Amino acid sequence: MASAFAVRSGRKSASGGIRCLVTAGPTREYLDPVRFLSNASSGKMGFALAEKAAILGWEVELVSGPVSLRPPRNVRIHRVVSAVEMLAAVEPLFRWCDILFMVAAVADYRPAECASEKMKKSKDRLSVKMVRNPDILKHLAALRTHQTVVGFAAESQHLEDYAAEKLVRKGMDWIVANDISRPGLGMEVDDNEIVLMSSSGVRMPFGPAPKEEVAAFILEQVRGAVGRPARK
Ligand code: PMT
Repeated sequence: MASAFAVRSGRKSASGGIRCLVTAGPTREYLDPVRFLSNASSGKMGFALAEKAAILGWEVELVSGPVSLRPPRNVRIHRVVSAVEMLAAVEPLFRWCDILFMVAAVADYRPAECASEKMKKSKDRLSVKMVRNPDILKHLAALRTHQTVVGFAAESQHLEDYAAEKLVRKGMDWIVANDISRPGLGMEVDDNEIVLMSSSGVRMPFGPAPKEEVAAFILEQVRGAVGRPARK
């Protein structure tokens, strides 16, 4: 079944599967050796996508920020900590892959400096100067040759409008918009509800459902696009 699928869907790797790159989890941006800025991403959505893609027979490389999940079977995992490390890990893999799922909740900013020793409490207030992190997805989308680029958008308001703006601004082919304002759905938890949107105007809501089912739905919808020439 997996090989029949790969033939139907376009590009094939040496082993017959589609080459798939997934990022997952948060990034950590350290202030000193023991303190960092991060977010609540658990990695569950990205790991579920990696697992379901491997079950389809795709070759899967998973680049993950710090999470406590066990790697899915038949998936090669690369563990990173910061956004800068994530970019360094994904860039060479992007050239190899046929499809990128950028599920990671990458920090947009990092402290301008990381203290070499644990910071001491000296004042009542502490100001931290932050600098922009690279936008990994936007950077990769600009480098693409044949890759299908799928991003995610975690929004707490104006879900589809904000996601549609990111789809265009970052040069994606697809975006998975998820509402993180509702209890029990989105970040950190087991279930999700999404709207899958494409650059050609497709709009498909799905869920609420366990992240494994959401992952299977996304793969089912986007697989026909893998291997097609880049949009631009
Ligand atoms: O890990 P879980 O607990 O299962 O939660 C899953 C999730 C809610 C984190 C996931 O479904 C999700 O929405 N991931 C994207 C979260 C996010 O960072 O969204 P964003 O709107 O800030 O970013 C838009 C896209 O740009 C994302 O694909 C993101 O990976 C990418 N990005 C963002 C910032 C940055 N510096 N570089 C990026 O590549």
